[in-house]
Amino acid sequence: MIWPRNIKAFLLLLERHLQLLYPKEEARAIVRYFWDYSFEMPWNMAWEDEADFSQEHYEMAVERAQRLEKGEPVQYVVESAHFYGYDFYVSQGVLIPRPETEALVIWMKEKWLKENRSKAPRLLDIGTGSGCIPITLGLELQKEGLNPSAFYGMDISEQAIEIARKNSEDKALLLHWIQQDIFETDSTTFSALDILVSNPPYVPQSEEIEMDINVREYEPPQALFVPDDDLLRFYEIIAQRGKEWLIPAGHIFFEIHFSQGEACKDLLEKMGYVHVEVHQDLAGKDRMVYGKTPKDS
Ligand SMILES: C[S@@+](CC[C@H](N)C(=O)[O-])C[C@H]1O[C@@H](n2cnc3c(N)ncnc32)[C@H](O)[C@@H]1O
Repeated sequence: MIWPRNIKAFLLLLERHLQLLYPKEEARAIVRYFWDYSFEMPWNMAWEDEADFSQEHYEMAVERAQRLEKGEPVQYVVESAHFYGYDFYVSQGVLIPRPETEALVIWMKEKWLKENRSKAPRLLDIGTGSGCIPITLGLELQKEGLNPSAFYGMDISEQAIEIARKNSEDKALLLHWIQQDIFETDSTTFSALDILVSNPPYVPQSEEIEMDINVREYEPPQALFVPDDDLLRFYEIIAQRGKEWLIPAGHIFFEIHFSQGEACKDLLEKMGYVHVEVHQDLAGKDRMVYGKTPKDS
């Protein structure tokens, strides 16, 4: 297929192709994202009738458009995901950060600033992926004059750790990245943490079939799925490690599958966490759980 060199004609054709995969509004939003993260020219100018691509830009636009029309997420195509007002480098080795996770960071920031304003926490994020959770919280706490020098991110994936490191370096933050399987840790791997946080894999394997093609075929399965008969496997091990690694009155935060709010709350309460709360996402679904280790633990 020959893509037009005229920019307006190119964008209209790309939008038409994407409408075969996505609803109309989403197709337009993807074209806009592709444009904004690929070229310096303002979106409005792109629609002026006479503007044509330079040769170099044309080749890049065609390469990216071909990937988009196969269903590859636009964030992988342009290698950038927008999260909490910041841009994160992403490629197919890591999960694209989601808006639900922004809400988790907002909750963490609020709780920390309310209770412990004078210092940054010693924090570990398990399954850190792009590093979006500790990096964003680190940047936000920096704005409050707190120094996130004891922030750690752990992931089983070497590629995720490389990407998280790149993201923190891009943002001039000195965080600590560890390639490690959480199931291979023991009570001595960490100590004296103020906050333990995780958005672990939590989608039941049986839901894979219902997921959009751009998630199923492009995002790493290791970041998404858990066996249907062991949905809480990550929460159990992380809550156990939390009892060993957190200080008394330390905080644990989880992102969860919407069906697991009560189950996660029960799990934390049975393990002796206090002040356990379940929070909903913008769609009103259970999405986050919080607990605290007892003061005298
Ligand atoms: C749902 S993704 C979350 C990524 C990122 N924190 C975010 O919120 O966008 C889960 C992450 O857990 C990692 N992971 C999967 N199994 C793991 C394990 N056994 N130990 C440590 N990390 C693991 C995956 O590689 C993936 O990066």
